[in-house]
Amino acid sequence: MTYVTRREHFSAGHRLFRPDWDDRRNEEVFGKCSNPAGHGHNYYVEVTVAGDVDPETGYVLDLKELKSVIQSRVLALVDHKNLNTDVPFLHGVLPTTENIAIGIWKQLVDHIPQGRLYQVRLFETEKNFVDYRGED
Ligand code: NI
Repeated sequence: MTYVTRREHFSAGHRLFRPDWDDRRNEEVFGKCSNPAGHGHNYYVEVTVAGDVDPETGYVLDLKELKSVIQSRVLALVDHKNLNTDVPFLHGVLPTTENIAIGIWKQLVDHIPQGRLYQVRLFETEKNFVDYRGED
């Protein structure tokens, strides 16, 4: 099995806040991430596809096609958006790194041109990232 990864970037804002909790509980659990005005991140997403190398092309898949799918199904929807309010595939979801990674997986899993989606890795900061590999 061979694994091919495309790395992309987007910037977006969010606020970690549960309306069913009071301000104190939100502050305890989410800290600065629950500040009322929200804040932004420079996210990096790495999409990994697993497959066999096509003997004719030498590719698992054409990375131009993967780039195009990520662009249309993810980046166009999240870049420079408010993840709490502006993104249909995150509607009603608390936009933690975990939940955003799962949302991105769902956007892509049925649209991989060749091979199969293996992993979505989402960096919220340089030091914090989440890997999602689908449901077991
Ligand atoms: Ni944040």
